[in-house]
Amino acid sequence: MAVADVFVDLRSDTVTRPTPGMREAMATADVGDDVYGEDPTVNALEAEVAALFGHEAALFAPSGSMANQIALQLVVPPGDELLCDADAHVVTYEIGAAAAYGGISSRTWSPVGADIDPDVVAAMVRPEGYHAVPTRAIAVEQTHNRGGGGVIPLATLRELRRIADDAGVALHCDGARIWHAHVADGVPLAGYGALFDTLSVCLSKGLGAPVGSLVVGSADKIARARVLCKRMGGGMRQAGILAAAGRYALAHHVDRLAADHAKAARLAEAIAPFGVLATTVRTNLVPLDLTKAPLDAQALAAAARAEGVLVSVLGPRTARLVTHLDVDDAGIDRAIEVLTRVLRG
Ligand SMILES: Cc1ncc(COP(=O)(O)O)c(C=O)c1O
Repeated sequence: MAVADVFVDLRSDTVTRPTPGMREAMATADVGDDVYGEDPTVNALEAEVAALFGHEAALFAPSGSMANQIALQLVVPPGDELLCDADAHVVTYEIGAAAAYGGISSRTWSPVGADIDPDVVAAMVRPEGYHAVPTRAIAVEQTHNRGGGGVIPLATLRELRRIADDAGVALHCDGARIWHAHVADGVPLAGYGALFDTLSVCLSKGLGAPVGSLVVGSADKIARARVLCKRMGGGMRQAGILAAAGRYALAHHVDRLAADHAKAARLAEAIAPFGVLATTVRTNLVPLDLTKAPLDAQALAAAARAEGVLVSVLGPRTARLVTHLDVDDAGIDRAIEVLTRVLRG
């Protein structure tokens, strides 16, 4: 029996399973060998996503981590520098890939989630020269995972674009959950796309596809991205089966993210009286700051699990709840009932 049949699984939006409609789309997908560039469904997905973000091209890659790392290698040569938040996925959860595969040196600003101060970033940029490591790119995360699903305001992104242009460096977006930002703030995807040199966007988070992310950028960059992807072992063959799931997700699962955001807000509101700070919830992630709670994150997760609710532990007194396609309103009711009981102590 699958975990989702037993638990209300609020650990991540990556745990979703393909819906019947998505499975039908996958089963009937037209496929070919994508390494030969001959998979019609992959080609259609790449064209569709490039157009959504107003860029020339896109590359379908096996994971968000690989899409990020390909993009970073496109914009930062070995030995040069990437700037990002200390809590960014690219330097927290990608197992040192930027250094290991790209020879990229990363320098971080103090973790602030979506509340980036552009002046802080501008002051960090180092110019070309032999004396210090030159900055080549700035990366941001929209929405911010460890930043509790926060949405970086458009004005901040515009300011970062100006800083990047002035300094002659690239701006990359880890847009694993950019769809959530689009739904929460009403910014068109092309509006985001226009601000970045490269984006990585995931189909396998809130959108509910089983596998797949895309690197988005200029035709020239994506031609190089194909080589980097193949070099990293990311060349796929009849990947149209997976691309079909992604195309289905884009057609059916973007607007419904508003419902996941509402479920997250309901969870946050219910838990707040028990000393858990979950007040800044904007999207589908509910960060739990347990510093004032009667139990730590491990204890909370264990107690909730014993009652059929799964929670992510992010630190000794930090945990996270994530709403998604596979948790309905009844699941949220159950989670509220269990978590409030456990947190009451
Ligand atoms: C913000 C962010 N970027 C990138 C990724 C990486 O995606 P993947 O697990 O497909 O490598 C994740 C995964 O959860 C994420 O949250």
